Amino acid sequence: MTKELGVGIIGCGNISTTYFSLAPLFKGLKVLACADINAQAAKLRAEEYGVTAQTIEELLANDEIDVVVNLTIPDAHYPVSKAALEAGKHVYSEKPLVLSLEQGEDLRRIAKEKGLAVGCAPDTFLGGAHQLARKFVDDGGIGRITSGACYVMGPGMEMWHPNPDFFFLPGGGPILDMGPYYIANLINLIGPVKRVGAMTSMASETRTITSQPRNGEVIPVKTPTTIQALLEFVSGATVTLTASWDVWSHRHANMELYGTDGSLYVPDPNFFGGVVEASGRNKDIKEVTGWDHPFGKFNQESPNGPRANYRTAGLADMAMSLIEGRDARCSLDRTLHGVDIMTSILKSGAEGRFVDLTTTCTQPAALGIEEALALLK
Ligand SMILES: NC(=O)c1ccc[n+]([C@@H]2O[C@H](COP(=O)([O-])OP(=O)(O)OC[C@H]3O[C@@H](n4cnc5c(N)ncnc54)[C@H](O)[C@@H]3O)[C@@H](O)[C@H]2O)c1
Repeated sequence: MTKELGVGIIGCGNISTTYFSLAPLFKGLKVLACADINAQAAKLRAEEYGVTAQTIEELLANDEIDVVVNLTIPDAHYPVSKAALEAGKHVYSEKPLVLSLEQGEDLRRIAKEKGLAVGCAPDTFLGGAHQLARKFVDDGGIGRITSGACYVMGPGMEMWHPNPDFFFLPGGGPILDMGPYYIANLINLIGPVKRVGAMTSMASETRTITSQPRNGEVIPVKTPTTIQALLEFVSGATVTLTASWDVWSHRHANMELYGTDGSLYVPDPNFFGGVVEASGRNKDIKEVTGWDHPFGKFNQESPNGPRANYRTAGLADMAMSLIEGRDARCSLDRTLHGVDIMTSILKSGAEGRFVDLTTTCTQPAALGIEEALALLK
């Protein structure tokens, strides 16, 4: 196996700039080409980042491309990833990998038949803050995790996104859109889930767009916008997860985990950095410090100040796993288990019963300082 994989990006929208600009930080990757159903979008990114714009067919037939990075919209993830696998390329997708377990099992079958790898974002659990939380848990900082509570809530997407329709249709909704970050992090910290239960609802059957250019247009809501879920882990831990776009403000923390010897306060799983806090049995909550993880270092300015952004770390880890012949942290098994958890939550809400999961996975290997440095150029 070569020491660098040729990367072709399909889907040249909003998030593609993050991949184009951050991929050069990492070993094992060389972005060579890009494509989009909108040829103009591909041309624009190609000029911006010095790669070749191709049609989707040309990119899939390009012998220099080893991995296709799928940055299309959620509904297109399955057909685009399937076409890439059938063309003999490894695949790394943005979240959610697919919209149903059946689609994911189909990708698994094709990948296995062809000896190819499939990986998927989110990779934010590889961030300095989340790996610090992982180390603290692994070192026994709060004892055995017995329960927890996660909240990802806000008023919605129609006030900022120019075309928010898809967020409110099947395949959208807060659990499939934001849930992947929380679930990937819970798998990182606690391991696989055994069964789920949920109650789901929607505050309104329509939403009124207040962003431009469609300000005032009324769009239908066809998927739950408030989901109160309960996850039972194989370890025995039980965690509540509330995901909603019907909440104007709240005071809940993103993620709190409770153990036999203390509590852990995990920052927003949508980001690589943040402050990790913990208490012991003395209830004295203090910041967890003491290491300088490379994926926690500020490398970007944002409207909220400097931040750590190492998106593509999961892709780099997958590339190195292929080069080194080891397990990838953002693997198909883990991401498909995440899809199983999210779709089972929605099923539980619709059917009013607990749902046993049919998939499982292992916890990903921790990514300590040395392992993270090994991914960087
Ligand atoms: N924007 C973000 O901040 C963000 C952050 C994290 C993850 N994501 C995820 O990344 C993915 C893309 O999001 P985005 O915000 O970049 O969306 P976007 O709408 O800005 O871009 C998507 C691009 O994919 C193209 N496309 C759609 N269907 C296609 C197909 N069948 N074949 C080829 N190209 C196709 C579109 O023309 C568009 O250029 C989503 O899955 C989203 O959940 C986005």
